[in-house]
Amino acid sequence: MPTLKSVGELESLRASILGKRDPQKAVITICNGTGCHAHGCVGVTEAFREAVKSQGLEDKVDVRATGCHGFCERGPLVVIKPKGILYQRVRVKDVPEILGETVVKDNVIERMLYTDRASGRKIELEHEVPFYQGQQRLVLGNNGLSHGYADGIAKQMQQVDRWEFLHADNLHDLIAALEKQYGAHGRARSSK
Ligand code: FES
Repeated sequence: MPTLKSVGELESLRASILGKRDPQKAVITICNGTGCHAHGCVGVTEAFREAVKSQGLEDKVDVRATGCHGFCERGPLVVIKPKGILYQRVRVKDVPEILGETVVKDNVIERMLYTDRASGRKIELEHEVPFYQGQQRLVLGNNGLSHGYADGIAKQMQQVDRWEFLHADNLHDLIAALEKQYGAHGRARSSK
């Protein structure tokens, strides 16, 4: 991958990655943040990868390990996109059922849904969970779908010692540009 030398090149890379994405393709995102590691997300991720491969679903289903979704106490978290169905505390033994029932047949498995403490209601979609409703997720709002973009940035950062762009003034400009687009933090609380 060539080294990026400007914010414009970063934007072009982003646009080209987004342009290759099929928004209707099923994506199984598994949080691989620190908290979910402690709850066994690595085994869950591998089980999904093996199951998708063994069932010949690689052209129809993507499996992506993501960064932290923020709801660490409920990990490992699995979100089935594009709908955004959230399963919490997923175990390796749950993987065949999630793949067969939810990803292939579009059926929701109730026992793995989050239960709202106040109402007792089972909540199906990630964005409907009260924990997320007071938040406006900026950078991490595409967690899982922007894997290629994040991966590209990570690769660039690994080359940082050879990165001509990394002079103090330019770095300041880059950070300012990113903050202008995404805000100063990955996730910002709304004022409501
Ligand atoms: S580490 Fe998985 S939600 Fe935070």
